[in-house]
Amino acid sequence: MTDAIVSLLREDRQFLPSDSFRAAALVNSKEAYATLYERSLAEPANFWREATDALVWRQPWTVFQEGTGGSSTFFTDGKLNVSESCLDRHLKTPNAHKAAIVWEGEPGEVRVLTYRELHREVVRLAAALLDLGVKPGDRVAVYMGMVPEAAAAMLACARIGAVHSVVFGGFSSEALRDRINDSGAKVLLTQDGAWRRGGVVPLKAMADKAVENCPNLAHVICLRRIDSPAKCPIVLREGRDHDWATLLAAPRSVEASSLAKTPEAFSAEHPLFVLYTSGSTGKPKGLVHTSGGYLAGAHVTAKFVFDLKPTDLYWCTADVGWVTGHSYIVYGPLSCGASCFMYEGAPNAPDPSRFWRMIERHGITILYTAPTAIRAFIRWGDEHVVKHDLSSLRLLGSVGEPINPEAWMWYRRVIGGDRCPIVDTWWQTETGSILVTTLPGAVMSKPGSAGLPMFGIVPSLVTEAGEPCAANEGGKLLIDAAWPSMARTIWGDHERYLDTYWRAVPGKYITGDGARIDQDNYTWVIGRIDDVLNIAGHRIGTAEIESALVGHPAVAEAAAVGRPDELKGQALVVFVTVKSGQTAGPELRAALTEHIDKEIGKFARPDAIRFADALPKTRSGKIMRRLLRDVAAGNESKGDTSTLEDLSVLAALRGGKDEE
Ligand code: PRX
Repeated sequence: MTDAIVSLLREDRQFLPSDSFRAAALVNSKEAYATLYERSLAEPANFWREATDALVWRQPWTVFQEGTGGSSTFFTDGKLNVSESCLDRHLKTPNAHKAAIVWEGEPGEVRVLTYRELHREVVRLAAALLDLGVKPGDRVAVYMGMVPEAAAAMLACARIGAVHSVVFGGFSSEALRDRINDSGAKVLLTQDGAWRRGGVVPLKAMADKAVENCPNLAHVICLRRIDSPAKCPIVLREGRDHDWATLLAAPRSVEASSLAKTPEAFSAEHPLFVLYTSGSTGKPKGLVHTSGGYLAGAHVTAKFVFDLKPTDLYWCTADVGWVTGHSYIVYGPLSCGASCFMYEGAPNAPDPSRFWRMIERHGITILYTAPTAIRAFIRWGDEHVVKHDLSSLRLLGSVGEPINPEAWMWYRRVIGGDRCPIVDTWWQTETGSILVTTLPGAVMSKPGSAGLPMFGIVPSLVTEAGEPCAANEGGKLLIDAAWPSMARTIWGDHERYLDTYWRAVPGKYITGDGARIDQDNYTWVIGRIDDVLNIAGHRIGTAEIESALVGHPAVAEAAAVGRPDELKGQALVVFVTVKSGQTAGPELRAALTEHIDKEIGKFARPDAIRFADALPKTRSGKIMRRLLRDVAAGNESKGDTSTLEDLSVLAALRGGKDEE
């Protein structure tokens, strides 16, 4: 067991929200939370009707849920247009002139888009997409950095019923190509480049390489963010590529203009987006989220978990390419009419005080970030923080990976000035919205525990043998029944969806996480128990890394495992055997690193590549990852080695010192 997990098990500190926070909170007592929660289970239709009354239902729903488990639909007969709930509904209110997005580029420039301005951008882009022939249900890929237009792109798709597939800008051309082809996207929205740590990420050039092999892709729309041929040269290919601004300024057909202005309503179950994430096979899966259920979940959680007030300037530091960016930069907060801060670049560009300078400069009130970032801030030193006035902050959030109690305490003390509650939010790409957390004005929080279930959610735990766990007994985390914002399927592979999530424990959703639930019903998530790693909050399937590595001509076999890492939570260690005639050594190590950069993206680079003559296998030929994890962590193996084919393999691996 790692030190982090041991300390998590012993943790017993508790923090209540301050009286002043509580006084203004939307849900301000344990009893108020319990009443809402119980109502969400006993009378779900009434609960959701009230909780989502701000959303615009063009055709109000009468059926809350049809079917069960992985075959459920929600708000089944309702119709809505998601972008109308996020934008149009605010235009008739004082929110029309309120900032929807306050954006700061890495070089330091600031742009503010009011709800009216964001609406105008979205309508123009939606009309342009319509004129390019995009129809409801068509897929549109988005490969962009952190610019307001990325949010506009998503909302424009939603407006016309197109299904967006945002691909994180850190993915390589090959990964982008695979995602475009899997979803069958016919349009790609991208930008010339994005600023990152003073350099330019050449997104358009990378997209060009990807789309060479995307037969269904007909159009590429390119925003000029860098807008400098010297710093970021781009080529626009005649007939396929469009300059974003030129396209939006071009004359529009009457039909497209009027449909973009007064958009169609879609069924609540109409797909809103596909988002790819790693699973336990080499092929990433495209989780499909719907319009009504997803928006309801994102809206209600954004409202209650972040306790949003009209005066808040809320900052979620995630990238739009991940689910957190979807739910808590775009759909959740905008459907609540919040002002969202958005930042383009790296947290230490040009120096480690960048975040704190921006919080002071803009008066940010809510900060939602990841444990890896928090641990990096701790490492960089308090001096970068304390020179800034962070008194505008009133609430902090954490997401993406378990937060170790010491990082939690630092976050509370140094960033939150001991006054801001922390919401540790547990959820997944598949869940669409936060499922476990502590409502900040209602209940105590415990460092390291995500907390209590959100509305309509019943978490439970089972042992390896499928028996219910006792209080505090560790087990597999399940969700007992379907909920509105859950993904409905995997794009093109519904069987895989049912197999992965719903079949092992019939009727229950399998999260893939290990956890314990304590005597107060608080959930403590330990981490993944399937073949998925969580490296710096990025989800990476071991099989995806392995299949990339065996695609290299020098590699015979590969096994990827996680090793505890103080900064990133887990580090990626790969064991590789080479084909005969190939030389293992520094050159091959560099080549394999480059190969991963190319096949997946730099964020998936292994932290260590270890060459071996053989990998430990069972007699039936299965790689024994448990042993490799021990070797990677430098631990003596505690596990059973009786099925290991050849013990000398393990001895050789332990002796291997060729790691970098
Ligand atoms: O292992 C859990 C971890 O992140 C996984 C989901 O990853 P992804 O789909 O990329 O979504 C990340 C953002 C929601 C989970 O299975 N995880 C997420 N949040 C937490 C967490 N682990 C512990 N505590 C959390 N708050």
